[in-house]
Amino acid sequence: MSLIKLLDIKKLGDHRGHLVVLENNKSIPFAIKRVYYLTGTQAGVPRGFHAHKELTQAAVCVSGRCLMKMDDGINKDEIWLDSSDKAIVIDKMIWHEMHEFSADCVLLVLADDYYDEEDYIRNYDVFLELTKHA
Ligand code: TYD
Repeated sequence: MSLIKLLDIKKLGDHRGHLVVLENNKSIPFAIKRVYYLTGTQAGVPRGFHAHKELTQAAVCVSGRCLMKMDDGINKDEIWLDSSDKAIVIDKMIWHEMHEFSADCVLLVLADDYYDEEDYIRNYDVFLELTKHA
């Protein structure tokens, strides 16, 4: 079973450059409450390594690329986020890791709720245990 949920994001633009639009409850399938982005990441320094109990997010590399690895406790999947119109959903209870960042990577993340450390599951064994009872 694929864990990759690609969003239908249109890349507009012309000879002046690209223009990509993300809209609440349209191309992004939720109301956005928080936006954050990762910059200055390094190829050999992966990030993420957590799941969320309730949070739904969407992620897109607006510059550069990284390898997104996802895991629902049974299935594992991965996808290169390597285009500014290649956005994916990170559902709740999906363990995710970002690897192999390019030097120019800017990873934009949209979230349907505010930051809450209590919503994080940062221990993989705890995550596996919780998915068994889902
Ligand atoms: P973390 O979630 O560990 O980053 P990543 O999953 O990309 O490896 O977040 C790094 C730190 O930033 C951590 O102390 C939590 C904090 N943080 C916020 O304060 N607000 C936020 O919206 C996010 C995403 C993280």
